[in-house]
Amino acid sequence: MTPTTAFPLPDPALAELLTARLAVVEERLRDAVAHADVLADATARHLVNAGGKRLRPLLTLLAAQLGDGQRPEVLDAAVVVELTHLATLYHDDVMDSAPLRRGAPAAHEVWGNSVAILTGDLLFARASSVVAGLGPEAVRLQAATFERLCLGQLHETVGPQDGEDPVGHYLQVLSDKTGSLIATSARFGAMFAGCPPEILRTVTGYGEKVGVAFQLADDVIDLSADGARTGKTPGTDLRERVPTMPVLLLRARVAGDAASEADRALLTQLDSDLSDDAALSRAVSALRAHPVVAQTRELAVTWAQDAVAELRPLPAGPARDALVAFADALVDRAS
Ligand code: IPE
Ligand code: IPE
Ligand code: MG
Ligand code: MG
Repeated sequence: MTPTTAFPLPDPALAELLTARLAVVEERLRDAVAHADVLADATARHLVNAGGKRLRPLLTLLAAQLGDGQRPEVLDAAVVVELTHLATLYHDDVMDSAPLRRGAPAAHEVWGNSVAILTGDLLFARASSVVAGLGPEAVRLQAATFERLCLGQLHETVGPQDGEDPVGHYLQVLSDKTGSLIATSARFGAMFAGCPPEILRTVTGYGEKVGVAFQLADDVIDLSADGARTGKTPGTDLRERVPTMPVLLLRARVAGDAASEADRALLTQLDSDLSDDAALSRAVSALRAHPVVAQTRELAVTWAQDAVAELRPLPAGPARDALVAFADALVDRAS
C-alpha cells in the first residue's frame, strides 16, 4: 500500500508531514508482524498486506501535533494501536463469519478458525512487546483498552439483559468495542508528545465519541451495495444476526405504536432465513431503502458533532482543524 492519509487533511504542510510519518509507521508495522515461523509469518502479514485505512495510527500522529509530534515514542504508539486493531480484526471475522476483509479473504477462510484466532493472539503479543517499550502507564492504558474492547464484543454477543434498552445497550457496546481504541489512539499521541493532562482529557473524549460515530457509519457500510469499495461482503452482519443500529431502530419502531405494515414486513424478512445469497441480497436492498438507515447516518453525524465540540479547549491551528476534518471524514466515508 502506498502510505498516504486516508482522507484529505486541510493543511498541505501537515498532510506532507503526516504522510511521511505514516510511511515510517508502515515500515515498523511490517517489521513488527514478521515471524521466523513460516506459517505465522504468512498469517500475521496477511491483513497488513491487504491494506486498511490506518486511521488509528493517523489519529495518534495527528493528536501528537498538539505537542512535540517529533518524539520517537509517538511512532511506536502508532504501531501499537494498529497492531491491536489488527489483532481484533482476525478475531472479529471469526466471530462474525465474515468472508472478506480489506478486499482479501478473511484469515479464517484461508487457514481455518484456530489459526486465525492464534494469529490475532500473536499480533496482540507483538503489540504488547512494542507497548512495553513505552513504559508502565502506556501498558496499563493498553490493557484497559483491550479489556473494554473484549467486553464490548462480549456484550454485543450476548445482547441486552431483560428490561435493558437495546439501543442504549448497543451504544455502550460501540463505545467499548470501537470508541475505546480510537480514544486511546488519540490519547497516546498527545501523551507521547508531552501534552498536559487537560489536552489528554480533551482528545480522549473526542476519540471516544468519534469512535461511536465511526462504528455507526460502519453499520451503514454493511448495507453498502459496493463490496469492491468496502472490501467487505455486504450484509455480513445481517446474515450472522450481528446487531446493528438500523436493525435495532427498526425493531424499536415495530415494538412501539408507530410501525407501518411495511416496517413489520421488513422485520419479518430480516428475521427469516438469509443463508441463501439471493435472499440476503434482497434483504440488504430492502433495509437500505428504509428510513432507519438515514436515521443511523444522522446519529453518526450527531456523535461526530459532539466529538468536535469536545475540541473547544484546544488552541486554534492546523492540528485542531485536522481533527475536525477527521471527524467529518469518518462519518462521510464509503469504506
Ligand atoms: C473496521 O475498522 C472495524 C471497525 C471498528 C469498524 P476500519 O474500518 O478502521 O478497518 P481498516 O483498518 O480500514 O481495515
Ligand atoms: C469490528 O467490529 C471489530 C471491533 C471493533 C473489535 P465489526 O464487526 O462491527 O466491524 P466490521 O464490519 O467487521 O469491520
Ligand atoms: Mg465484523
Ligand atoms: Mg463484529
